[in-house]
Amino acid sequence: MPDIHPFLVHFPIALYLTGLFLDLLGVVRRDPAPLRAGWYLLAASCMGCILAVGSGLLAKGAVDVRGPALESFALHEQLALATGAGVCLLFYWRLTYRGDIPVSHRNLYLLAALITAGLMVSTGLLGGILVFEHGIGVR
Ligand code: HEM
Repeated sequence: MPDIHPFLVHFPIALYLTGLFLDLLGVVRRDPAPLRAGWYLLAASCMGCILAVGSGLLAKGAVDVRGPALESFALHEQLALATGAGVCLLFYWRLTYRGDIPVSHRNLYLLAALITAGLMVSTGLLGGILVFEHGIGVR
């Protein structure tokens, strides 16, 4: 089976970060339209994360990782799992409010969303290091 992880990973990253930007815009402007769009992007990003984690775990069995790449590889995997868990939890949290950001816990929600963005960016950066510095998955 071809390694589709590099093809899939860009979707959750782009969808999540754009969704968070729209959420912040909606909160600052008190405008429900960007918040609705942010919710849809979070839902799509959650699906993308599940695919990215699944394809990453499949790629893990197919690539040859050794030497200095091992540490980056382990960190990429751990951060990816934390990212996936974070996005899924945020999705579930908002689902219980029918897609709205919970008013009573708004700051807590946004803090969790920003931490998850940090995890997402770190996961992506480490993935790039795996490929472009260590040549993992490159024939
Ligand atoms: C939220 C989930 C994940 C994201 C956003 C993500 C992101 C990335 C990115 C951006 C790259 C570099 C791709 C490129 O530049 O071509 C990459 C590579 C890679 N990632 Fe992930 N990753 C995720 C989950 C995982 C998991 C759970 C594993 C399992 C250990 C994994 C294993 C790999 C491997 C082996 C590579 C090297 C390229 C390949 O052979 O596929 N990733 N990842």
